[in-house]
Amino acid sequence: MSILVTGGAGFIGSHTCLELLSAGYDTIILDNFCNSKRESINRVEEITGKKVKVYDCDIRDKAGLDKVFAENSIDAVIHFAGLKAVGESVSKPLEYYDNNIGGTVKLCEAMRDAGCKKIVFSSSATVYGAENQSPLREDMPEGKTTNPYGTTKLYIERVLKDTFASDNEWSICLLRYFNPIGAHKSGRIGEDPKGIPNNLVPYIAQVAVGKRDHLNIYGNDYNTPDGTGVRDYIHVVDLALGHIKAVEKIMGEKGCFIYNLGTGVGYSVLDVVKAFEKACGHSIKYEFAPRRAGDLDTCYSDPSKALRELGWKAERGIEEMCEDSWRWQSSNPDGYC
Ligand code: NAD
Ligand code: UD1
Repeated sequence: MSILVTGGAGFIGSHTCLELLSAGYDTIILDNFCNSKRESINRVEEITGKKVKVYDCDIRDKAGLDKVFAENSIDAVIHFAGLKAVGESVSKPLEYYDNNIGGTVKLCEAMRDAGCKKIVFSSSATVYGAENQSPLREDMPEGKTTNPYGTTKLYIERVLKDTFASDNEWSICLLRYFNPIGAHKSGRIGEDPKGIPNNLVPYIAQVAVGKRDHLNIYGNDYNTPDGTGVRDYIHVVDLALGHIKAVEKIMGEKGCFIYNLGTGVGYSVLDVVKAFEKACGHSIKYEFAPRRAGDLDTCYSDPSKALRELGWKAERGIEEMCEDSWRWQSSNPDGYC
């Protein structure tokens, strides 16, 4: 069976390609490398001992997409390609709407034209907004998004739901990720942010390896046990395995399905700092700073629907997530270079 993975060179995409190849799927990557390097794919090939066909193509390039579908018999698509920096999306909303929403529309057109109507999409817990109380469940109404990045996820979900409503031959899985961290056990692939990391664990990892002086903890007066923000961190390998289950689901059944991929457990920023200190064997310098605009106090999933319907459950805990992040960061201090 052949799976096309858009954005397959990125953080979550590379880990998912590795698990797809290990599970015996033929894997084709389409990426424009705007936020990734080919080296991630070389390393996936090195770990699995398998070859991956790679297209350097933009998801907004309809002719390029048509060529990929004409040259391959693709059974399903896992769609990761997208821009994901929240702050940047506020200053460049048109780029985000064009790339993420426009690109997804083009991809779906190419899929429809090729008769491939099975897609797994990378959505985010951000679609729940601030209105819903954790644990967040898939049957809760979507909330108000606070930035263009989040809005692209909400609108793409709508585009895909409407696509299914218009043609029940489609099979669509919307996966709402919580906070993916960690890396593959080999330490050969991991998250390689450009510039200053926006997200907590890549930032801590760079402090731990000596690339940054200290972590700024954004707010210590939240309504949480220690005052710092609480999130549902999920190991990227567990997340990748969730995609295999989602592919199995859409291969066997038509419909539009929504699943949270999280652990169901919330950890505070200070909990993560402690777990990372244990993993790297030394202390992490931090300072308390003002709250970051748009942040919530608490966000964690109810992951029971994915267990019930996909037979998927996150198996790896926060200590393993930090150990694996540290192995990747310490053996690749400058990422893929
Ligand atoms: P990433 O930036 O590492 O990977 C995205 C990949 O898509 C990159 O390789 C990039 O080069 C590629 N890409 C972007 N625009 C493209 C385009 N127009 N055409 C072709 N390729 C393009 O990000 P990631 O962390 O692996 O995230 C993957 C997906 O999951 C994204 O859609 C992201 O929004 C979503 N997501 C991520 C998180 C997270 O915390 N990492 C959380 C929720 C959802
Ligand atoms: C952020 C995005 C979210 C996106 C997700 C994955 C915002 C408001 N939300 O989620 O839309 O889907 O990333 O890309 O940006 N923290 C610090 N110091 C730091 C970095 C983070 O204290 O240097 C804190 C945050 O305040 C938060 C927690 O760590 O409490 C996690 O932050 P982060 O990793 O950025 O993820 P989210 O904010 O949950």
